[in-house]
Amino acid sequence: MSLPQLLRDNLALPVIGSPMFIVSNPELVIEQCKAGIVGSFPALNARPEPVLEQWLQRITAELAQFRQAHPQTKVAPFAVNQIVHASNQRLQHDVALCVKYRVPIMITSLRAPDLVVEAAHSYGGLVFHDVTTIAHAKRALKAGVDGLILVCNGAGGHAGRLSPFALVPEVRSFYDGTIILSGAIAGGDAILAAQAVGADLAYIGTRFIATREANAPAGYKQALVDSAAEDIVYSSLFTGVHGNYLRSSIVAAGMDPDRLPEGDKSTMDFGGGSDAKAWRDIWGAGQGTGQIHDVPATAELVARLEREYRAARERVLASSTGSA
Ligand SMILES: Cc1cc2nc3c(=O)[nH]c(=O)nc-3n(C[C@H](O)[C@H](O)[C@H](O)COP(=O)(O)O)c2cc1C
Repeated sequence: MSLPQLLRDNLALPVIGSPMFIVSNPELVIEQCKAGIVGSFPALNARPEPVLEQWLQRITAELAQFRQAHPQTKVAPFAVNQIVHASNQRLQHDVALCVKYRVPIMITSLRAPDLVVEAAHSYGGLVFHDVTTIAHAKRALKAGVDGLILVCNGAGGHAGRLSPFALVPEVRSFYDGTIILSGAIAGGDAILAAQAVGADLAYIGTRFIATREANAPAGYKQALVDSAAEDIVYSSLFTGVHGNYLRSSIVAAGMDPDRLPEGDKSTMDFGGGSDAKAWRDIWGAGQGTGQIHDVPATAELVARLEREYRAARERVLASSTGSA
Protein backbone atom coordinates (compact mmCIF):
# COMPACT_ATOMS: atom_id res chain seq x y z
CA MET A 1 0.00 0.00 0.00
CA SER A 2 1.36 3.43 -0.75
CA LEU A 3 0.30 7.04 -0.80
CA PRO A 4 2.17 9.91 -2.44
CA GLN A 5 3.63 12.41 0.06
CA LEU A 6 1.09 15.04 -1.00
CA LEU A 7 -1.75 12.85 0.28
CA ARG A 8 0.07 11.32 3.24
CA ASP A 9 0.57 14.76 4.77
CA ASN A 10 -2.65 16.58 3.94
CA LEU A 11 -5.66 14.33 4.48
CA ALA A 12 -7.82 14.21 7.61
CA LEU A 13 -9.53 11.09 6.25
CA PRO A 14 -8.41 8.66 3.48
CA VAL A 15 -11.07 9.85 1.04
CA ILE A 16 -11.44 11.47 -2.38
CA GLY A 17 -14.76 13.20 -3.05
CA SER A 18 -15.20 11.90 -6.58
CA PRO A 19 -15.94 14.05 -9.64
CA MET A 20 -19.58 14.07 -10.71
CA PHE A 21 -20.93 15.46 -13.96
CA ILE A 22 -23.10 18.57 -13.36
CA VAL A 23 -23.11 17.96 -9.56
CA SER A 24 -19.53 18.90 -8.57
CA ASN A 25 -18.98 22.64 -8.34
CA PRO A 26 -16.38 24.91 -6.68
CA GLU A 27 -18.48 25.26 -3.48
CA LEU A 28 -18.48 21.48 -2.93
CA VAL A 29 -14.80 21.06 -3.89
CA ILE A 30 -13.62 23.87 -1.60
CA GLU A 31 -15.60 22.55 1.37
CA GLN A 32 -14.31 18.99 0.81
CA CYS A 33 -10.67 20.17 0.71
CA LYS A 34 -11.11 22.42 3.76
CA ALA A 35 -12.56 19.44 5.65
CA GLY A 36 -9.48 17.37 4.78
CA ILE A 37 -10.58 15.14 1.89
CA VAL A 38 -9.65 15.59 -1.78
CA GLY A 39 -12.36 17.51 -3.64
CA SER A 40 -12.71 17.11 -7.40
CA PHE A 41 -14.81 18.15 -10.38
CA PRO A 42 -15.03 17.21 -14.06
CA ALA A 43 -13.44 19.97 -16.20
CA LEU A 44 -16.54 19.75 -18.43
CA ASN A 45 -18.71 21.04 -15.56
CA ALA A 46 -17.15 24.47 -16.09
CA ARG A 47 -19.19 25.62 -19.08
CA PRO A 48 -18.58 27.39 -21.37
CA GLU A 49 -14.84 26.79 -21.71
CA PRO A 50 -13.58 30.10 -20.23
CA VAL A 51 -15.39 29.31 -16.94
CA LEU A 52 -12.75 26.65 -16.19
CA GLU A 53 -10.07 29.30 -15.61
CA GLN A 54 -12.40 31.19 -13.23
CA TRP A 55 -13.02 27.98 -11.24
CA LEU A 56 -9.31 27.15 -11.07
CA GLN A 57 -8.47 30.70 -9.94
CA ARG A 58 -11.16 30.63 -7.27
CA ILE A 59 -10.40 27.18 -5.85
CA THR A 60 -6.64 27.82 -5.80
CA ALA A 61 -7.01 31.23 -4.12
CA GLU A 62 -9.61 30.20 -1.52
CA LEU A 63 -7.67 27.11 -0.47
CA ALA A 64 -4.40 29.09 -0.23
CA GLN A 65 -6.10 31.70 1.97
CA PHE A 66 -7.64 29.02 4.16
CA ARG A 67 -4.29 27.24 4.55
CA GLN A 68 -2.65 30.48 5.60
CA ALA A 69 -5.37 31.26 8.14
CA HIS A 70 -5.37 27.67 9.56
CA PRO A 71 -1.77 26.45 9.55
CA GLN A 72 -2.54 23.53 11.91
CA THR A 73 -5.47 22.20 9.83
CA LYS A 74 -5.06 19.48 7.21
CA VAL A 75 -6.27 21.02 3.98
CA ALA A 76 -6.47 18.50 1.13
CA PRO A 77 -5.33 19.11 -2.46
CA PHE A 78 -7.97 19.25 -5.19
CA ALA A 79 -8.36 17.30 -8.43
CA VAL A 80 -9.74 17.92 -11.91
CA ASN A 81 -11.32 15.11 -13.93
CA GLN A 82 -10.52 14.89 -17.65
CA ILE A 83 -12.66 12.73 -19.91
CA VAL A 84 -10.21 11.17 -22.38
CA HIS A 85 -12.51 10.50 -25.33
CA ALA A 86 -12.54 11.55 -29.00
CA SER A 87 -15.80 13.47 -28.48
CA ASN A 88 -14.22 15.69 -25.80
CA GLN A 89 -12.96 18.51 -27.98
CA ARG A 90 -11.89 20.54 -24.96
CA LEU A 91 -9.35 18.04 -23.68
CA GLN A 92 -6.16 19.81 -24.84
CA HIS A 93 -7.45 23.21 -23.71
CA ASP A 94 -8.54 21.93 -20.30
CA VAL A 95 -5.30 20.03 -19.68
CA ALA A 96 -3.23 23.10 -20.66
CA LEU A 97 -5.16 25.20 -18.10
CA CYS A 98 -4.56 22.58 -15.41
CA VAL A 99 -0.85 22.75 -16.23
CA LYS A 100 -0.97 26.56 -15.95
CA TYR A 101 -2.59 26.33 -12.49
CA ARG A 102 -0.46 23.34 -11.48
CA VAL A 103 -3.56 21.40 -10.45
CA PRO A 104 -2.27 18.92 -7.83
CA ILE A 105 -4.16 15.86 -9.16
CA MET A 106 -5.80 15.00 -12.49
CA ILE A 107 -8.31 12.16 -12.60
CA THR A 108 -8.72 10.57 -16.02
CA SER A 109 -11.67 8.53 -17.25
CA LEU A 110 -12.43 6.26 -20.21
CA ARG A 111 -9.37 6.01 -22.50
CA ALA A 112 -5.70 5.55 -21.56
CA PRO A 113 -4.38 8.88 -20.28
CA ASP A 114 -0.89 9.13 -21.93
CA LEU A 115 -1.31 12.80 -22.93
CA VAL A 116 -2.53 13.82 -19.47
CA VAL A 117 0.25 11.91 -17.67
CA GLU A 118 2.94 13.70 -19.64
CA ALA A 119 1.33 17.10 -18.96
CA ALA A 120 0.81 16.52 -15.22
CA HIS A 121 4.29 15.11 -14.65
CA SER A 122 5.82 18.20 -16.29
CA TYR A 123 5.08 20.15 -13.08
CA GLY A 124 4.97 17.33 -10.50
CA GLY A 125 1.19 16.76 -10.63
CA LEU A 126 -0.35 13.33 -10.05
CA VAL A 127 -2.66 11.34 -12.33
CA PHE A 128 -5.19 8.79 -11.06
CA HIS A 129 -7.03 6.76 -13.70
CA ASP A 130 -10.51 5.20 -13.48
CA VAL A 131 -10.69 1.50 -14.41
CA THR A 132 -13.21 -1.31 -14.14
CA THR A 133 -11.11 -4.24 -15.41
CA ILE A 134 -7.62 -5.75 -15.06
CA ALA A 135 -6.86 -5.10 -18.76
CA HIS A 136 -7.59 -1.38 -18.37
CA ALA A 137 -5.57 -1.26 -15.14
CA LYS A 138 -2.53 -2.71 -16.91
CA ARG A 139 -2.93 -0.31 -19.84
CA ALA A 140 -3.11 2.69 -17.48
CA LEU A 141 0.01 1.55 -15.62
CA LYS A 142 1.85 1.42 -18.96
CA ALA A 143 0.88 5.06 -19.47
CA GLY A 144 2.65 5.88 -16.18
CA VAL A 145 -0.28 6.85 -13.94
CA ASP A 146 0.34 7.51 -10.23
CA GLY A 147 -2.66 5.55 -8.99
CA LEU A 148 -5.63 3.45 -10.08
CA ILE A 149 -9.25 4.11 -9.21
CA LEU A 150 -11.05 0.76 -9.18
CA VAL A 151 -14.68 1.46 -10.02
CA CYS A 152 -16.56 -1.56 -8.72
CA ASN A 153 -20.08 -2.89 -8.66
CA GLY A 154 -22.67 -0.51 -7.24
CA ALA A 155 -20.85 2.75 -7.99
CA GLY A 156 -22.86 5.79 -9.05
CA GLY A 157 -22.50 6.88 -12.68
CA HIS A 158 -20.53 4.58 -14.99
CA ALA A 159 -19.77 1.53 -12.88
CA GLY A 160 -17.98 -1.78 -13.21
CA ARG A 161 -19.41 -5.23 -12.59
CA LEU A 162 -16.75 -6.64 -10.29
CA SER A 163 -16.90 -6.94 -6.54
CA PRO A 164 -14.24 -4.94 -4.70
CA PHE A 165 -13.30 -8.20 -2.92
CA ALA A 166 -12.30 -9.57 -6.32
CA LEU A 167 -10.82 -6.55 -8.10
CA VAL A 168 -8.72 -4.94 -5.35
CA PRO A 169 -6.72 -8.08 -4.43
CA GLU A 170 -6.24 -9.00 -8.10
CA VAL A 171 -4.80 -5.55 -8.87
CA ARG A 172 -2.74 -5.64 -5.66
CA SER A 173 -1.12 -8.87 -6.84
CA PHE A 174 0.78 -6.94 -9.55
CA TYR A 175 0.65 -3.31 -8.34
CA ASP A 176 1.88 -1.87 -5.05
CA GLY A 177 1.12 1.78 -5.85
CA THR A 178 -1.88 3.87 -4.86
CA ILE A 179 -5.26 2.14 -5.17
CA ILE A 180 -8.47 4.08 -4.72
CA LEU A 181 -11.70 2.13 -4.32
CA SER A 182 -14.99 3.34 -5.78
CA GLY A 183 -18.50 1.97 -5.40
CA ALA A 184 -21.30 2.44 -2.86
CA ILE A 185 -19.02 3.76 -0.10
CA ALA A 186 -21.21 6.05 1.99
CA GLY A 187 -20.08 5.71 5.62
CA GLY A 188 -16.95 5.65 7.78
CA ASP A 189 -17.10 1.88 8.25
CA ALA A 190 -16.94 1.33 4.48
CA ILE A 191 -13.90 3.66 4.27
CA LEU A 192 -12.15 1.36 6.77
CA ALA A 193 -13.33 -1.68 4.79
CA ALA A 194 -11.78 -0.20 1.63
CA GLN A 195 -8.43 -0.05 3.42
CA ALA A 196 -8.88 -3.53 4.88
CA VAL A 197 -9.37 -5.07 1.44
CA GLY A 198 -6.19 -3.41 0.16
CA ALA A 199 -7.05 0.08 -1.07
CA ASP A 200 -5.31 3.24 0.14
CA LEU A 201 -8.21 5.62 -0.31
CA ALA A 202 -11.99 5.51 -0.63
CA TYR A 203 -13.68 7.32 -3.54
CA ILE A 204 -17.10 8.70 -2.60
CA GLY A 205 -19.60 10.24 -4.99
CA THR A 206 -23.32 9.72 -4.35
CA ARG A 207 -23.17 10.52 -0.61
CA PHE A 208 -21.94 14.03 -1.51
CA ILE A 209 -24.84 14.72 -3.90
CA ALA A 210 -27.03 14.95 -0.80
CA THR A 211 -25.14 17.90 0.69
CA ARG A 212 -26.09 21.55 0.80
CA GLU A 213 -23.27 22.60 -1.55
CA ALA A 214 -23.79 20.06 -4.36
CA ASN A 215 -25.24 21.36 -7.61
CA ALA A 216 -28.31 19.13 -7.72
CA PRO A 217 -32.02 20.00 -7.56
CA ALA A 218 -33.73 19.56 -4.19
CA GLY A 219 -35.84 16.73 -5.69
CA TYR A 220 -32.68 14.76 -6.59
CA LYS A 221 -31.25 15.15 -3.06
CA GLN A 222 -34.59 14.11 -1.52
CA ALA A 223 -34.83 11.11 -3.89
CA LEU A 224 -31.49 9.89 -2.50
CA VAL A 225 -32.81 10.23 1.05
CA ASP A 226 -35.96 8.31 0.06
CA SER A 227 -34.31 5.46 -1.87
CA ALA A 228 -32.29 2.34 -1.12
CA ALA A 229 -29.96 -0.01 -3.01
CA GLU A 230 -32.87 -1.84 -4.68
CA ASP A 231 -33.94 1.45 -6.31
CA ILE A 232 -30.74 1.60 -8.37
CA VAL A 233 -30.94 0.50 -12.02
CA TYR A 234 -27.85 -0.59 -14.02
CA SER A 235 -28.27 0.34 -17.68
CA SER A 236 -26.25 1.27 -20.76
CA LEU A 237 -29.15 3.12 -22.40
CA PHE A 238 -28.33 6.68 -21.40
CA THR A 239 -24.67 7.02 -22.42
CA GLY A 240 -23.77 3.77 -24.17
CA VAL A 241 -21.73 2.62 -21.15
CA HIS A 242 -23.30 0.76 -18.22
CA GLY A 243 -24.03 2.98 -15.24
CA ASN A 244 -26.22 3.18 -12.13
CA TYR A 245 -29.25 5.46 -11.97
CA LEU A 246 -32.18 6.21 -9.69
CA ARG A 247 -35.25 4.20 -10.71
CA SER A 248 -37.64 7.07 -9.85
CA SER A 249 -35.93 9.44 -12.32
CA ILE A 250 -36.27 6.87 -15.13
CA VAL A 251 -39.98 6.49 -14.35
CA ALA A 252 -40.37 10.29 -14.24
CA ALA A 253 -38.81 10.47 -17.72
CA GLY A 254 -41.60 8.16 -18.97
CA MET A 255 -39.59 4.94 -19.29
CA ASP A 256 -39.97 1.48 -17.80
CA PRO A 257 -36.81 0.84 -15.73
CA ASP A 258 -37.32 -2.92 -16.05
CA ARG A 259 -37.47 -2.85 -19.85
CA LEU A 260 -34.70 -0.53 -21.00
CA PRO A 261 -33.05 -1.24 -24.36
CA GLU A 262 -29.26 -1.44 -24.68
CA GLY A 263 -27.44 1.83 -25.32
CA ASP A 264 -25.14 2.52 -28.26
CA LYS A 265 -21.51 3.18 -27.32
CA SER A 266 -20.80 4.89 -30.63
CA THR A 267 -23.17 7.72 -29.70
CA MET A 268 -21.20 8.69 -26.58
CA ASP A 269 -20.81 12.42 -26.63
CA PHE A 270 -18.70 14.36 -24.16
CA GLY A 271 -18.65 18.07 -24.72
CA GLY A 272 -21.81 18.24 -26.81
CA GLY A 273 -25.26 18.84 -25.36
CA SER A 274 -26.83 15.39 -25.37
CA ASP A 275 -24.73 14.02 -22.49
CA ALA A 276 -25.72 16.96 -20.29
CA LYS A 277 -29.38 16.44 -21.11
CA ALA A 278 -29.25 12.74 -20.21
CA TRP A 279 -27.57 13.38 -16.83
CA ARG A 280 -29.88 16.28 -16.01
CA ASP A 281 -33.03 14.18 -16.39
CA ILE A 282 -31.75 10.73 -15.41
CA TRP A 283 -30.17 10.93 -11.98
CA GLY A 284 -26.97 8.95 -11.44
CA ALA A 285 -26.63 7.27 -8.04
CA GLY A 286 -24.80 4.34 -6.48
CA GLN A 287 -26.09 1.53 -4.30
CA GLY A 288 -24.93 3.35 -1.15
CA THR A 289 -28.04 5.52 -1.36
CA GLY A 290 -29.78 3.43 1.33
CA GLN A 291 -27.37 4.94 3.84
CA ILE A 292 -28.32 8.54 3.00
CA HIS A 293 -30.85 9.99 5.44
CA ASP A 294 -30.20 13.72 5.34
CA VAL A 295 -28.78 16.66 3.37
CA PRO A 296 -26.08 18.13 5.65
CA ALA A 297 -23.37 20.71 4.98
CA THR A 298 -20.25 19.09 3.51
CA ALA A 299 -18.13 20.00 6.55
CA GLU A 300 -20.65 18.33 8.84
CA LEU A 301 -20.76 15.21 6.66
CA VAL A 302 -16.96 14.82 6.58
CA ALA A 303 -16.79 15.28 10.38
CA ARG A 304 -19.42 12.53 10.70
CA LEU A 305 -17.51 10.20 8.37
CA GLU A 306 -14.39 10.76 10.51
CA ARG A 307 -16.27 9.83 13.69
CA GLU A 308 -17.75 6.72 12.03
CA TYR A 309 -14.33 5.72 10.66
CA ARG A 310 -12.69 5.95 14.10
CA ALA A 311 -15.57 4.10 15.77
CA ALA A 312 -15.38 1.33 13.15
CA ARG A 313 -11.63 0.96 13.71
CA GLU A 314 -12.13 0.62 17.45
CA ARG A 315 -15.01 -1.82 16.98
CA VAL A 316 -13.00 -4.06 14.64
CA LEU A 317 -9.94 -3.99 16.90
CA ALA A 318 -12.02 -4.80 19.97
CA SER A 319 -13.87 -7.67 18.28
CA SER A 320 -10.99 -9.33 16.44
CA THR A 321 -9.84 -12.52 18.10
CA GLY A 322 -6.28 -12.55 19.33
CA SER A 323 -5.87 -8.79 18.94
CA ALA A 324 -5.52 -7.99 22.63
C1 LIG B 1 -24.23 11.79 -10.84
C2 LIG B 1 -22.88 11.22 -11.08
C3 LIG B 1 -22.06 11.77 -12.06
C4 LIG B 1 -20.79 11.26 -12.29
N1 LIG B 1 -19.98 11.85 -13.22
C5 LIG B 1 -18.70 11.44 -13.38
C6 LIG B 1 -17.81 12.13 -14.25
O1 LIG B 1 -18.16 13.11 -14.90
N2 LIG B 1 -16.54 11.67 -14.35
C7 LIG B 1 -16.09 10.58 -13.63
O2 LIG B 1 -14.92 10.22 -13.74
N3 LIG B 1 -16.92 9.91 -12.80
C8 LIG B 1 -18.19 10.32 -12.65
N4 LIG B 1 -19.03 9.67 -11.77
C9 LIG B 1 -18.52 8.50 -11.03
C10 LIG B 1 -17.87 8.94 -9.71
O3 LIG B 1 -16.75 9.73 -9.92
C11 LIG B 1 -17.53 7.74 -8.80
O4 LIG B 1 -16.88 6.71 -9.47
C12 LIG B 1 -18.78 7.17 -8.15
O5 LIG B 1 -19.68 8.21 -7.82
C13 LIG B 1 -18.45 6.40 -6.89
O6 LIG B 1 -19.52 5.61 -6.48
P1 LIG B 1 -20.65 6.12 -5.43
O7 LIG B 1 -21.42 7.16 -6.15
O8 LIG B 1 -21.41 4.89 -5.19
O9 LIG B 1 -19.94 6.67 -4.25
C14 LIG B 1 -20.31 10.15 -11.53
C15 LIG B 1 -21.15 9.61 -10.54
C16 LIG B 1 -22.41 10.13 -10.29
C17 LIG B 1 -23.25 9.55 -9.21
